[in-house]
Amino acid sequence: MTDLSVFIAGLPKAELHLHIEGSLEPEQMFAFARRNRLALPFASVEDVRAAYAFSNLQDFLDIYYQGAGVLMTEQDFHDLALAYFRRVAADGCRHVELFFDPQTHTDRGLPFRVAVEGLLSGMAEAQRSFGITSKLILCFLRHLDEDAAFATLKAAEPWLDAITGVGLDSSELGHPPSKFARVFKAAGERGLRRVAHAGEEGPPAYVWEALDILKVDRIDHGNRALEDAALVKRLAAEGMTLTVCPLSNLKLRVVDDLAAHPLKRMLDLGLKATVNSDDPAYFGGYLGENWRAAAPPLGLTRAELVTLAKNSFTGAFLTPAEAAAHLAAIDAYVIRRRGSSPVPGEGTATRAARPAPR
Ligand code: ADE
Ligand code: ZN
Repeated sequence: MTDLSVFIAGLPKAELHLHIEGSLEPEQMFAFARRNRLALPFASVEDVRAAYAFSNLQDFLDIYYQGAGVLMTEQDFHDLALAYFRRVAADGCRHVELFFDPQTHTDRGLPFRVAVEGLLSGMAEAQRSFGITSKLILCFLRHLDEDAAFATLKAAEPWLDAITGVGLDSSELGHPPSKFARVFKAAGERGLRRVAHAGEEGPPAYVWEALDILKVDRIDHGNRALEDAALVKRLAAEGMTLTVCPLSNLKLRVVDDLAAHPLKRMLDLGLKATVNSDDPAYFGGYLGENWRAAAPPLGLTRAELVTLAKNSFTGAFLTPAEAAAHLAAIDAYVIRRRGSSPVPGEGTATRAARPAPR
């Protein structure tokens, strides 16, 4: 492991943008299909992986919804969640706010209870086994109508004490946040926190709508906000957290390569960016891999990595005391590393050395 990888692995961090259905590995897809006696349209794990060549968000979503069809029982959801937590425990992850898409499951006949109970029991076991805390966010599918989102909110009522917030995901273009104005208002009135995917493929106007109409507490992605200087100013002034997903953006062709990723520019502009995996089984990397993939091409300094880690906790739906404990753990880690790091100065840029221009 390089010194940078060691530094990243030990840095306490949170994940705020993770679709649990997007952590379904091809091997698990086959295992769940087998135990639920379902046929898959793939002959092998290699065939599944070969299908993961996406040109845009919709390409991915088509295969992602198909994959989720193997999840049938509470045990499946429990096992899926636990496997994810086991994986990110090794990445220095201390807290996760995970999305799930109930409509993907209720629309194929599963009772609402199956996904939510399975996930909650997996989350409880992850806290006992790995010490990782977590919160659950229910996402509405934006390609469906607002009545369907209302029906989902109603179905969730018995679990609202265990659900922290609502989100908005699926096909962004053509489905602006304003389509869900009433259901987000209703969610807010029930004490739920609000987040929305905006500016992944959609224009800056969708980010404005998420802020002004949905009254979100965080923006998921937010890449295209950088096209609008007034919006950048607003996001920075409000300290709005952006849950950025580098490998997702690469796989879905939101960026051509990671050296061109806006993460560094976001930090330079004073935006509160965080690093996340989105759908790690589909995009080639869990939380730690996103950090390790983005840092060198963007030349992120150790100080910037520390800022990103701190943003992940201050942007989480933790109490101030909980967030403060994580920030103190980061500070203690940085001090410990200073004592042992062979690299002088925590401000060292991580970009690979380039030959000087002639
Ligand atoms: N559902 C799962 N991953 C998503 C993404 N990156 N954007 C929108 N919806 C999603
Ligand atoms: Zn997402």
